[in-house]
Amino acid sequence: MVSTVVGAPVERREGLEKVTGSARYAAEHAPPRRVWAWPVPATVARGTVTAVDTAAAMEQPGVLTVLTHRNAPRLAEPDDATLAVLQNPRVPHRGWFVALVVAETLEDARAGAAAVQVSYEPEEHDVSLTMTHPGAYVPEEANGGYPAATEQGDPERAFASSAVQVDADYRVPPLHNHPMEPHASTAQWDGDRLLVHTSSQGSTAVQTVLAGLFRLPEDGVTVVAEHVGGGFGSKGTPRPDVVLAAMAARQTGRPVTLALPRRHMPAVVGHRAPTLHRVRLGAEPDGRLTSLIHEVTTHTSRIKEFTEQAAVPARTMYAAAHLRTVHRVAPLDVPSPSWMRAPGEAPGMYALESAMDELACALGMDPVELRIVNEPETEPHSGKPFSSRHLVECLREGARRFDWAHRAPRTAGPLRIGTGVAAAMYPVLVQPSTASAGACPDGTFLVRINATDIGTGSRTVLAQIAADALGVPLERVRTEVGRSDLPSASLAGGSSGTASWGWAVHEACTRLTARLATHTGPLPPDGLDAHADTAGQADADSPWARHAFGAHFAEVAVDTVTGEVRARRLLGVFAAGHILNARTARSQFVGGMTMGLGMALTEGSTMDAAFGDFTQSDLASYHVPAHADVPDIEVHWIDEDDPHLNPMGSKGIGEIGIVGTAAAIGNAVHHATGTRYRELPLTPDRVR
Ligand code: MOS
Repeated sequence: MVSTVVGAPVERREGLEKVTGSARYAAEHAPPRRVWAWPVPATVARGTVTAVDTAAAMEQPGVLTVLTHRNAPRLAEPDDATLAVLQNPRVPHRGWFVALVVAETLEDARAGAAAVQVSYEPEEHDVSLTMTHPGAYVPEEANGGYPAATEQGDPERAFASSAVQVDADYRVPPLHNHPMEPHASTAQWDGDRLLVHTSSQGSTAVQTVLAGLFRLPEDGVTVVAEHVGGGFGSKGTPRPDVVLAAMAARQTGRPVTLALPRRHMPAVVGHRAPTLHRVRLGAEPDGRLTSLIHEVTTHTSRIKEFTEQAAVPARTMYAAAHLRTVHRVAPLDVPSPSWMRAPGEAPGMYALESAMDELACALGMDPVELRIVNEPETEPHSGKPFSSRHLVECLREGARRFDWAHRAPRTAGPLRIGTGVAAAMYPVLVQPSTASAGACPDGTFLVRINATDIGTGSRTVLAQIAADALGVPLERVRTEVGRSDLPSASLAGGSSGTASWGWAVHEACTRLTARLATHTGPLPPDGLDAHADTAGQADADSPWARHAFGAHFAEVAVDTVTGEVRARRLLGVFAAGHILNARTARSQFVGGMTMGLGMALTEGSTMDAAFGDFTQSDLASYHVPAHADVPDIEVHWIDEDDPHLNPMGSKGIGEIGIVGTAAAIGNAVHHATGTRYRELPLTPDRVR
């Protein structure tokens, strides 16, 4: 069936509400008698709280209470140790919350927090990651359930005997998610029932976690995340704000809002862990890889094992008979790292795609052709056939549109101008979800699912999927998303939202259509309903290797006087199944590439070894790209017809845009200057 609805550049349904300010976010829900909370972060990197003096804080105007580990409600032990807030006096890292002030106004709470006196017994700390850190080990699994280490053939020997070799180290610093809307929650109790409005990528999971922590039945907790101002992974799991708001509301008997101050975020909402890479590529003179070795060392905190799976893409990208990938992780006295857009792939493909460029230079070969020569027939690691793989088409189409053939570096005054290319990939992930679809007597249809719209347009695309499955005009479909009392659904993460929710919506609508087909006479007053649950379908193991692919092309100008790198052109071509909404999809690709531009040129965080803290903790010091930094970004895609995905034939698109962008820019800097920089970001102090 050819649809005019799915694929169309439909506008976001909540767009007007958002740009006119009537869309309400978590901190803007103001129940009567609502009060505010402000946290107190630890000022040592490791140690124990010995005393909290709250007397001065309690004398501040408006202060209602100060929660500490001594008086805070006792929680059940969480699976996620970062949520065990105010439960004991241990300080696992600097910035860990050691008290919470609740007051009538935001200003009162902040002033109260400044007056809390905390004493510590500090201990020696270690926050410095090195490739040879003695505490580093190979865990059982890297993130995502991938084995931490794989080996095929004899990679060391094959590398040693290969005609052309690249052996290079790359460094990606810690990176911070920094969504526009900070993590924020408004919590209120009605007897033993808890209602929270929170900024989350998935409120079904928040509901489950809160029910566990506060020992409540799941249906005693309602979690609403109607509008969410971005997350980039940091809102994929509940964060301390929602737990603290619920504790404070319980303690005070008042609705409580806690919006995390931005400077507190890097310590408590996760970050992309730094990754130290060693990549070895061995090749024949014709460019064919014989050996590929990608080794990654990263850090985690003392309370949580989190291993950024940065060597995983090397298992999928290129044909190499001898292949080794390994992750090592060092537990340090650092904040717990967590998910950040394309966790694993973003830093991993920076290293791998930079090394491929180095290999092309060593061979004297075009880097586009080098990648094409190494196109595998089946997935190198698993041996599975690809459900669809159009990387070569993306590279060729991008090269044509970018005019890659005429890429000679040039000079313009103090500027050196060059171009670079890199590949992109992101796995196809999908999770079980449930949905309902209803036909109403007034001729409209109502789709209900606890999907989350974090700014991506998911309400809109789900309405498109429903209209398509029902065979009705888009205007007749209404959607309800973003509440835990709707049919439960997976989170907006892993670029899996649209596929997972869309699958359930499609199935509910297909069932409803069948019910309507056999129904005679007018609809009953409350309409007709159908439900779907994709458990057992959506999470089934596939015999296919399923990934989206893409190609990035970048043109940069490097100022030889100041060391400043400016991106002049970015062009991406992606192959991600059927694109379901051309407008919102383009925004996702552009957004990912913009974040990749930041990763390449401006974003980076450093651990202060003495203080044990990130020195860049606000947007004045952690530089995300602004409009003036973002050149025209061109995005194209190759529509794929892949029957092995889901009923819509779609692959995820939320993350692939950031994958490979930084490598394309770094490779362009090398093309422009002849110098290879192997540490991000490419700030003027490095590029000289
Ligand atoms: Mo994304 S880091 O899976 O929210």
